[in-house]
Amino acid sequence: MPPINAPNTPRTIAVFDSGFGGLTVLRELLPLLPGTRFLYLGDTARLPYGAKSQQTIARYALSSAAFLLAQGAEMLVVACNTASALALEEVKAALPIPVVGVIEPGVAAASAAGKAASSSASVLVLATSATVQSAAYTRACLAAGLNAYEKACPLLVPLVEEGWIDHPVTAEVLRIYLGEALAAAPEVQTLVLGCTHYPLIKPLIERTLTELNHPLHIVDSASATAHAAAKVLPAAEAATPTSCTFYATDSIEKFQRLGSAFLGRELPSVELLDLGG
Ligand code: DGL
Repeated sequence: MPPINAPNTPRTIAVFDSGFGGLTVLRELLPLLPGTRFLYLGDTARLPYGAKSQQTIARYALSSAAFLLAQGAEMLVVACNTASALALEEVKAALPIPVVGVIEPGVAAASAAGKAASSSASVLVLATSATVQSAAYTRACLAAGLNAYEKACPLLVPLVEEGWIDHPVTAEVLRIYLGEALAAAPEVQTLVLGCTHYPLIKPLIERTLTELNHPLHIVDSASATAHAAAKVLPAAEAATPTSCTFYATDSIEKFQRLGSAFLGRELPSVELLDLGG
């Protein structure tokens, strides 16, 4: 194997998520970092992380990160909001390479939007139950001078995975979640999509907010994270073709079928991986 920094050797960037959702981050990274060797690991056998404890999420995230490091990753993007909220510090401490999570970039984008709108901006964050319980978004928002209201939306991940991205049941569930959140925090001006799956239902979220007469500026942390990662490890000078290697810890067939909706293109091949329990 050539040394990592040899001329003409592409950068290797690893993206990790509990499943398919992190492909929305990879989708944003692809045009930003042409000529990169991307590794993507979806820990589908242990999905969902959003309903698990901090200890379990950290254990899963560390084993996934160790595997990607062993494959030559020079940077790790933790594309999973739940893993970023509950295990980013452990992963950073364990890895000798830059590690980028999704929370800080998402909050920075919300802060930029909020400053444009008002000096005392308030942010609504939709996320999994574990992410909300961790209050990681609230802490990051406070550090950026923003008030945050976090709303757990546990039904959205299964609905998106079912492919119900423009479906009356998902619309009704969103009406309930957003109605409750806006009743509790009517002052919010910005909405952060604090889960990998939510960019897929962004049009439905926008429609629901319009119906509720409460349009909000929507921040997609997938795009903000990709831009943050591209700043940490810019594309190498040499023009090499972009490559993507996909790993999943459960059904390859399901990963290819669902993954293409998240990535916006076909997934050529996926390798099955056993990371243990
Ligand atoms: N990837 C997770 C997140 O962004 C959602 C799916 C899960 O619960 O594992 O929070």
